[in-house]
Amino acid sequence: MMGLPEKFKSTGTGGGVIQDSASSASLCALLAGRERATKLMSNEKGCDGRLVAYSSTQTHSSVEKAVKIAGIGRRNLRLIEVDDTFALRPDLLVDQIRKDRQAGLIPCYVCATIGTTSSNAIDPLPEIGKICRREGIWLHVDGAMLGTAAVCPEYRYLQDGIEYADSYCFNPHKWMFTNFDCDCFFVADRAALIHTLSILPEYLCNQATESGAVIDYRDWHIPLGRRFRSLKLWFVIRHYGVEGLRTLIRRHVEWGQKFAQWVREDKRFELAVPPPMNLVCFRHVGGDEVNQKIMDRLNQSGKIYLTHTKLKDRLTLRLCVGQTHTEERHVARAWKLIQETAEEVA
Ligand SMILES: Cc1ncc(COP(=O)(O)O)c(C=O)c1O
Repeated sequence: MMGLPEKFKSTGTGGGVIQDSASSASLCALLAGRERATKLMSNEKGCDGRLVAYSSTQTHSSVEKAVKIAGIGRRNLRLIEVDDTFALRPDLLVDQIRKDRQAGLIPCYVCATIGTTSSNAIDPLPEIGKICRREGIWLHVDGAMLGTAAVCPEYRYLQDGIEYADSYCFNPHKWMFTNFDCDCFFVADRAALIHTLSILPEYLCNQATESGAVIDYRDWHIPLGRRFRSLKLWFVIRHYGVEGLRTLIRRHVEWGQKFAQWVREDKRFELAVPPPMNLVCFRHVGGDEVNQKIMDRLNQSGKIYLTHTKLKDRLTLRLCVGQTHTEERHVARAWKLIQETAEEVA
């Protein structure tokens, strides 16, 4: 359904597991990368301050949280600068890895993103993937929201280069109409993940485990017990069908692009970056203060709730089309409200 590489299937060396969130997936991937780089010795002795992780300045903050939890340390997370589209610059990644190796450090994890939180930027996976493969570094790809677009064959270019990834995740709870929480996490080498997380106390020993008759998903994530999340995802897929999901995704992209066109046509506003898909980053040309006022007033109205970010240090408003019951008229109404509020404020 997603056009993902065969290597993520449990019929080969890989496999998938449903986690609560993309944050947990990034953390599990980081732990596996850490253990692969230290031949399981970080699990035994703890981290010695030499492990290094990499992401872009635009990567979701959950990766920073993961490096703190995993004992890598925030100072050992390298935030690589981005290009004009807010995508990670592979040349700078190469430079940084070289510097770190020269300093005796151990690069163990790169997180690349398909659809960054702030602006939906797409990191160049083929280039990053080749670097990681050459350097033997675990590559995790975070497709939290935008990953869902791959349900449509015409959007699968977004995940070009995913074949280099050691792990990948996307969130059906973001753009696949599934109630929170539900994150699909795939690994190419399940043994690396399982060896990292597996513990077998006496009270968990049983015949099904010993004979290999079951997959023990407790070794694929942090908690022992797990919710039956696959059931709700299955019902969503069964309800819409693959074609139904594609229709919704295509509509959302179309309406996002339509909204962007309305922004372009109103001289009071500008796009902060051309929207690749369904997230539109825009602002009033009057500056941060005006944008803050517009957003506060809109959010206080109770009719719409906009979130913001900073792109190149400028306050930017974000409108994302992706909810289950959103229709074109809601997007049109949102734009009308934004225009009316701009009229009042500026
Ligand atoms: C790109 C990206 N990664 C990760 C996350 C974190 O998602 P979760 O709430 O599933 O941990 C987000 C949330 O907005 C995101 O946009």
